[in-house]
Amino acid sequence: MISLQLKKDVSRDIKRGHPWVYKGALKMPLPQTSGWAKLLDKQGQMLAWGVYDMASPLSFRVVSLDKKPPSQSFLQKKLVDALSFRDAWFDISQTNGIRCIHGEGDGFPGVICDRYGDVVVLQTDGQTLSTVWDVEWLAHQIQKQLQIKSVLMKPQKGKGEPRTLIGERPSESVEFLENGTRWLADIWKGQKTGFFLDQRKNREMIKALSKRRSVLNLFSYTGGFSIAAGQGGARQVTSVDISRFAIESCQRHWEMNSLPQKLHQGYAMNVFEFLEGQGEKFEIVVVDPPSFASSKSHTEKAMMSYTHVFAQAAKAVAPGGILALSSCSSHINFEMFYKISVDSVSKARRRARVISIQGQPEDHPFPLACPELRYLKFFLLQLD
Ligand SMILES: C[S@@+](CC[C@H](N)C(=O)[O-])C[C@H]1O[C@@H](n2cnc3c(N)ncnc32)[C@H](O)[C@@H]1O
Repeated sequence: MISLQLKKDVSRDIKRGHPWVYKGALKMPLPQTSGWAKLLDKQGQMLAWGVYDMASPLSFRVVSLDKKPPSQSFLQKKLVDALSFRDAWFDISQTNGIRCIHGEGDGFPGVICDRYGDVVVLQTDGQTLSTVWDVEWLAHQIQKQLQIKSVLMKPQKGKGEPRTLIGERPSESVEFLENGTRWLADIWKGQKTGFFLDQRKNREMIKALSKRRSVLNLFSYTGGFSIAAGQGGARQVTSVDISRFAIESCQRHWEMNSLPQKLHQGYAMNVFEFLEGQGEKFEIVVVDPPSFASSKSHTEKAMMSYTHVFAQAAKAVAPGGILALSSCSSHINFEMFYKISVDSVSKARRRARVISIQGQPEDHPFPLACPELRYLKFFLLQLD
């Protein structure tokens, strides 16, 4: 069994529910194998059990504060808790695109599990954790609890090919529902596990605001906010994404939900080129760019990029219109995002009032003691 000891006194944070220990907080030399590990405090007393990833600066993630190592029944109970919480929260006949396990927030650090109808996609944060966690066991437990056909293990982007863990090889596009809206998740080649489930509630806000308005969805991906706007009765919806595949999927989703063809226009192009010379003409502009900060060291540059793109987008908002700004980067915290929003609106020579500040939905919980995991920011602003 791997044993680690704290060099820094972060025991109090861990006891309060913060699940992370960075490499710099651990006594050297570090074990040269990854796996389940016990963590001792600075004085050598037993503190926690968890998963150790020797290749990551985020070396240790807490699974349990018990004296005994986590048993299968301990993990089984965590899983049942996670699934029953979703079961109580969602009406499966209307929403069957659900994050069933959200890593640290559900007691499975580094693991996510997304359900799309009768297919489940598992993903771990990095290659090592896919071997430390017994994903086959997890897949079987999930299949026992949910009525599903297949479980797919999908590595993060660029880290290998997906493989079927249980059942038949699922098709490329898996149909699912979100608040009654029909969607396809491209689970094999699409971004993340195939869809951005975390914007579900924010899409509902755009839907509620869209009646008779013209809506511009920048960085649209497969049209999450576009379809919501169409369903909310938008006068005209424009989607822009650099990926042709994303725009084609967007059009497909529009048709699948029986929205009038002539009300949607999709542009497979760079947002910056699209925005050139648009003028203040859209009554709602949604901006949900990719994460510009891949690590902490890129934060400053990322803040500049967000400010630039948000300012350009603000310039396209009609007088009195709505600007919805979002970021999924965990390295850009809430305070940084607030500053980015203020700076970008001001850079566009506009002023704004806050209509609503939102984040991730209920199937993306995080430990209270770990605000770093409050990763999704969504600001709904009304411009002057
Ligand atoms: C976070 S995702 C958007 C998710 C979307 N809002 C949803 O709810 O499904 C970011 C998208 O930005 C696109 N993208 C990245 N750089 C771009 C650029 N310069 N111009 C246009 N689209 C871009 C990516 O292809 C990706 O689909």
